[in-house]
This record gives sequence, C-alpha cells and structure tokens, in this order.
Amino acid sequence: MAKVTAAITGTGGYVPEDVLSNTDLEKMVDTNDEWITTRTGIKERRILRTPGMATSDMAVEAVKKALQKSGTRPEEVEMLICATVTPDTTFPDTANTILHKLGAKNSFGFDINAACSGFLYALTTGAKFVESGMYKKVVVVGADMMSSIVDYTDRATCIIFGDGAGAVLLEPVTDGTGLIDSILRSDGSGREYLHMKAGGSLKPASAETVARREHYVYQDGKPVFKAAVNGMVSTVQQLLDRNNLSVADIAWLVPHQANIRIINTVGEYLGFPPEKVMVNIHKYGNTTAATLPLCLWEYQNKLHRGDYLVLTAFGGGFTWGSTLLKWH
Ligand code: UT7
Repeated sequence: MAKVTAAITGTGGYVPEDVLSNTDLEKMVDTNDEWITTRTGIKERRILRTPGMATSDMAVEAVKKALQKSGTRPEEVEMLICATVTPDTTFPDTANTILHKLGAKNSFGFDINAACSGFLYALTTGAKFVESGMYKKVVVVGADMMSSIVDYTDRATCIIFGDGAGAVLLEPVTDGTGLIDSILRSDGSGREYLHMKAGGSLKPASAETVARREHYVYQDGKPVFKAAVNGMVSTVQQLLDRNNLSVADIAWLVPHQANIRIINTVGEYLGFPPEKVMVNIHKYGNTTAATLPLCLWEYQNKLHRGDYLVLTAFGGGFTWGSTLLKWH
C-alpha cells in the first residue's frame, strides 16, 4: 500500500491594514531608517489596531483563505493547531476561539507555544495525525499579534516585530508529495536571551511587574543571532544529508523572517542562491509564528508540484528546526 503523507492543499495569509514604517518609528524612539534597514532588512510592519480584535481574528482570516483553496467547509475541519506566543487569553487557548469563530463545529484544537519555531512544531504535529490516518482535514495556523507584547519605548525590539497570520490545510495523499521529514530541537538554556519576564506562574502580573515593564518581549539580540544561524544551518544540513538531497535539489529555502542578515548568512553558508530564498521581511518584519506560512501564501504561485521546499526557523526557548516538504 502506498505511504500516506500530509500534503498542504491550501494556504492563506492575513496582515492588518495599518502600516508602521521606519519613518513612523523615528518619531517614537531614537532610531533611523538607515539603521533599521541595514541591520534588519525591515522597512515596515503591519499592526492590528482595531479595538476588540486579537490574534484569533487574524488567524480566522488566514484559515478561511486556506480552506477556500480546496473548497473545504469549516464543518469539515477535524483538528486545528495554532502556533502563537500571543494568545487572545492565557486560557482558553486560541485554537478553541478560532474554531468557534470559524464555525468549525466538528473539530478540536490546541495551541503550541514554540515562539518563532511554532509553525514548524505545529506543522509536524498536524502531519503526524494525518499520516496516522486519524484525521483527514487538519489546519495548522501560525498567528501572532506581537504589537500586544512589544514595548514601543524600547528601540532594540520595537523595530523588529509585526502582526500577522498564516495558515495551511493538511490532507492525506499517496503520491509522494507532502511533509517528508522534520528535525525539531529545543534548548531551555537559551531562554534568558529571549523571553517575557512576567505574567506566567513564575512571576504573576502585579503592579510592580507592570511598573518594571516586564510584560514585554525582552531580547539580547547578539547571542540569539548567532544561535539562530547555527541552529538553522545545522538542521537544514542534517535534513538534506539524511534524505540524500543536495541544495541543487531544493527549489526553495523558506527561512523564518527575523533579520535579513540572518537569512542571507544562512543561505550563503548552505549555498542557496538568493533567488531560491523566500523573503518578505521588508514588508512585515518578524511576525513570529506567522512568518513561514505567510511566505508560503505569498509565494504559492511560484511553486510547482514536486518542488522540494526546506522550511527552517529559530526562536525563543531556544527552539529551532527544519522541515522538508514536497509541494503538492
Ligand atoms: O525571531 C526570533 C529570533 N530572533 C532573532 O533571530 C533576532 C536576532 N538578533 C538580531 O536580529 C539583531 O541582534 C538585532 C537586530 C536585534 C540587533 O542588531 P545588532 O547588530 O545585534 O545590534 P546591537 O544590539 O549590537 O546594537 C548595536 C548598536 C548599539 O549601540 P552601541 O552600543 O554600539 O553604541 C545599540 O544601542 O546599535 C544600537 N541600536 C540601535 N540604534 C538605532 C540598537 N537598536 C537600535 C535602533 N536604532 N533601533
């Protein structure tokens, strides 16, 4: 019997309309367009400013588009995994809210918190439910409203992040396309470099934690940069080696969009020509769990059946990994 794999049969993306440009940021903190552009590659990012709207609302829009592609109705969705570090509420989880807003009444879901690697963790998990035969329509969404946890007085972080959501529908196929392999990693010793200090059980919210601005993203950028390059390069290389593939066999490298210098360094180390590397960081900044599915959504018209794609990400935790896909 032919092996069942999980293929991406639909992609969707959503970014809010409001643009926050480098020029806007120049008026908010001591920074400038030249610094931001040369150090990060970001020119603008999207910010969700509509009162009452949150991560789940962006996710719903992305999921709707992913379902449209294959003519899938919300009631047909069996499972949804949402990768996010900015859930609407600590509980219930955002997947639960997304399913409700979609009208997906025959489903269940849960969130995965793996920061910028969340989409890869969620994609790999969702694919296993499809491969096992348990479910036939699994949605994986990466969504983050980073503006809700960014300190707009901290120039080291506020220039980096943006809001957005991206989603894919996974369905079983037997034609050899779909998710082929993944290498996922984590190392909790890296958590000191990228985290939110308060708001969890370790340090619950209090007047003091608010006064100390501890409910925002904290990042020590340099060690994260170095670990990101090492983590992405090593897992991509291992993935290629153990699948007997070389860079020449891969149509697209799909890297997490954290910094254009990281993207370029990873591509150069591995030997990918720039035209085979997906990039949209200049428009959206770092949307955390949404960067990879937003890339897939935006580049979908350039993808052909049978193309090999390698997705790679690195984020807070540390978490990182790479996934090999054959495009359906
Ligand atoms: O997605 C999750 C994973 N995250 C990442 O992969 C991010 C990895 N890290 C990075 O992308 C980079 O480290 C940053 C973009 C965050 C920072 O770039 P950097 O080249 O590492 O800059 P730096 O933090 O070492 O700062 C260099 C200088 C400092 O000034 P001095 O000490 O040299 O005088 C900073 O104070 O640039 C200054 N600086 C800025 N200047 C203008 C920091 N932020 C800004 C700013 N505008 N926004």
